[in-house]
Amino acid sequence: MAIYFDEGTKTFYLEGRDTTYAFYINEFGYAEHLYYGRKIAREPLTYTRGLIAGRTCAAAVPGLDDAGYSSYQYFATELSFFGSGDYREPTVLAENECGDRLSELLYDGYEILAYKPKISGMPSTRGEETLVIHLKDKLSGFGADLYYTVFEDTGAVARRIIYKNEGNPALTLRRAYSFAFSLPSQDYELLSLHGAWGRENQVERYPVHFGVSSVDSKRATSSAAINPFMALISRGATEELGEAYGVSLVYSSSFVLKAEGTGDGQLLVTGGINDFDFSWALSAGEIFETPEVLLTYSPDGIGGMSRRIHDTVRRYLVNESFVYKARPIVINNWEGTYMDFDTEKLKAIIDGVRGTGIDTFVLDDGWFGKRDTDESGLGDWVVNEKKLPGGLGVIASYLKEAGMKFGLWFEPEMISPDSDVYRAHPDYAIKAPGRENCLTRHQLVMDITRDDVRDYIVESVNKIIDGNDISYVKWDYNRNVTEFYSLGLPKDRQSEFAHRYALGLYDLYERIVNAHPDVMFEGCAGGGARFDLGTLAYFPQIWNSDDTDAEERTLIQYGTSIAYPLSASSCHVSVVPNHQTARATDMKTRADIAELGAFGYELDASLFDDSDRAAVREQIAEYKRCEQLVLAGDLYRLDSPYEGNFFGFMLVSKDKSCAKMTLYRRMGRPNSTVKRFVARGLDESKKYFVEELGTTLSGSTLMNVGLLPEFSAGDFKTVTYHIYVK
Ligand code: GLA
Repeated sequence: MAIYFDEGTKTFYLEGRDTTYAFYINEFGYAEHLYYGRKIAREPLTYTRGLIAGRTCAAAVPGLDDAGYSSYQYFATELSFFGSGDYREPTVLAENECGDRLSELLYDGYEILAYKPKISGMPSTRGEETLVIHLKDKLSGFGADLYYTVFEDTGAVARRIIYKNEGNPALTLRRAYSFAFSLPSQDYELLSLHGAWGRENQVERYPVHFGVSSVDSKRATSSAAINPFMALISRGATEELGEAYGVSLVYSSSFVLKAEGTGDGQLLVTGGINDFDFSWALSAGEIFETPEVLLTYSPDGIGGMSRRIHDTVRRYLVNESFVYKARPIVINNWEGTYMDFDTEKLKAIIDGVRGTGIDTFVLDDGWFGKRDTDESGLGDWVVNEKKLPGGLGVIASYLKEAGMKFGLWFEPEMISPDSDVYRAHPDYAIKAPGRENCLTRHQLVMDITRDDVRDYIVESVNKIIDGNDISYVKWDYNRNVTEFYSLGLPKDRQSEFAHRYALGLYDLYERIVNAHPDVMFEGCAGGGARFDLGTLAYFPQIWNSDDTDAEERTLIQYGTSIAYPLSASSCHVSVVPNHQTARATDMKTRADIAELGAFGYELDASLFDDSDRAAVREQIAEYKRCEQLVLAGDLYRLDSPYEGNFFGFMLVSKDKSCAKMTLYRRMGRPNSTVKRFVARGLDESKKYFVEELGTTLSGSTLMNVGLLPEFSAGDFKTVTYHIYVK
C-alpha cells in the first residue's frame, strides 16, 4: 500500500520507496499541497502553512470578513481556481450558462481504488492503487476529480483530472489543465529541451523568477521547438547533486507547462492541454478527461531524475512486449536512395548487408502512389508498380530468402494535393472555409478529427501491413497543422480542434498499432518532432533526428536522455560527409554514438565491400553484446557536450555487474590536457575487469580515481570501456 489518509489532519501521504508526496484538505475544504520530496515520517505538516497563509492584502475566502488572512491566493495547491481571490495561474477555467467563469472547487470526499483506471481515448501509465479526490463547486454543478497513482519503486506520481458537469445546463471549459502543485521556494532553475528540425532536444536551463516561465506548443502536436517536458532543479544542481523534479506530459498535441513564481515566495507548477485556442463544451452529465502527467522527484541531481523517469517509463508506459526485447537492427534506404529506387536497387542494398547481422530492411518514403519527389502521392497507400513491378511481395520474398524482415514507411496523417485520394476527397484535408491552405513540403494534413477520414486511413494502411508480411513500420509526420478547423465540428466548437486531433491520433494508434501486436512501430516526425510520452506509449522507439552526424547526435541524444530512456531513441550510422552537416567522422565514432540507442544503418549498402561488411558485423556484435545495457540499464551522464569538449555516457546493469563507458572528444588539440572520467553507478566493493586495459580494479577506484582515455589524434574520436565482474 502506498496511499495513506490521516483522518485527524485530513492529510494524504503518497509514499514511494524513498519519497513522500503529501497534501491535505484544509479547514475551507481546499486541497492544499504540503510536500513532495525525500521520504518523511507521516507527521502533520500543516505547521508549514500558517505564515504563508497569514499574509495581508489579499481577498479572504468567500464567507469570511477581509481580515486579510486565509486567502486562496496563498494556499499551496493541488488545483487552483479563478475568481475567488486567487490571481495565480488557475488549473481550470469553466464558463457556466450565465457567463461567469468562476468556480470554487472544494473537497467532497475521496476514494482509494485498488486499480488504476485507463483514460478513455488517451494513453497512460499502467499502475495499481489510485487515489481520487472529489472536488465540487456548490453553485454550478461543476466538479473535478483529482487522480493520483504513486509508483513505489521510483517515487513518480501520475496525476490527471477529470472535470465533470453534474447538472449545469451548459458549461464551457476554457482551460482544463492536468495538475498543479506548489514548491515552497523559487530557488529553482527550469530545464527544458528545445530545438528545431535536425537539432532536437537541446538543453537549456535558466532561473525561475517572479511571474510565469513556460514551455508550450500551439501546433496540435508536441514539437521539436520545445518538448512536452520540463524539470525544476535546485539552483546549480548537477548530474549528481541537488534536487530535481521532472514534469513529463503523456500527450501529443498542443500543451503548456508553467512554473509561476508568486509574491509569497512559492512556485506554482501546472499545465496540460494548451488553453491557447482551446475550449470544450461540456453538457450536463458529461465529463472531460485530461491527459496524464508524470511527476518525478530525485534527491540525486538531474541524473537521478533521469534514471527514475527511465525506469517509470520503461516499466509502466512502453509496450511490455517490446520494451526490453532485442530490437530489430535495420538498414533503412532513405539516405541511401531517397525516393530514387527500383526493385533491383533495393535488392542490391539487401545483398549488401547479407550476413552482417542486420535483420530488417526498412523501405522508406517513395514506394506508393505517384511518389518520385515529395510533391505528390501522400495518402495513396497503394504500391507504385512502376518502381516496384510485382509489388511489395517481390521484396518480401527476397527478404525472406535472405533471412531478413520487412519494414515500411508511412505518413498516415498526410495527403498530397496531387494524389488520387485528394482528387476524390479534397475535404479529407484540413481546411478553413474560404482560406487558402498553407503547404509545407507540398503536403496537407488530413482532418483526423473526423471518423470517415480515420476509417480511410485505417483501412488503407492496415491493408498494406496485413498483405505484405510487414514486421516493422516507421510512422512519420512531416509538417504541422495550420488551418485549425474541421468541417466535422459546429462553429462554436472549433476550438476543440487541437485536442480532437490528439484523440483522433490515439484512435489511429489503437486501430493500426495496437491491432498489430507483433509489429514494431517506430515513431518519427521529420526526425524527433513528436518525441513525447503519448507516442512512446505506442511506439517503443522514435527516430531521434534526421541529423545523423555523430557530433550533432551527442548533443541531441544527451538532451533526449534527460527525459526519455535510451531505448526510446532510434539511432543510425550513415555515410560521410554527413548529409545534414557535411561533416566527416570515423565509422567507429558514428557506430559508438549510434549504439547508445536502438541501433541501425541508413545508407546505400549496395556500395559495401567486404571490409565495410566486416566493420558492420563487428559493430552489430558490439551492439548486441551491450544491448541489454541500452534497453534496461542505468544511465550515468559523465560529461556534457554542452559544457565542453567531451561527452561521456556510462551504462550500468541493474545488478552492477557489467557496464560500458562511451567517451567522446570533439576537437583534438596538440599537447592537450589529460581528461579523466570518473565512473558512476558501480558497486564500490566489487572487483571489475576493465577489458580495454586488461586490468582489474575495484568499484571504489573506478568511481574515485577514474580512467584516463587515450583518444587517437584528430577530431570527433571515441573511446569505449567494457567494465565487468569476471
Ligand atoms: C522524414 C523522416 C526521414 C525520412 C523522410 C521521408 O524527414 O524523418 O527519416 O523518412 O521523412 O520523406
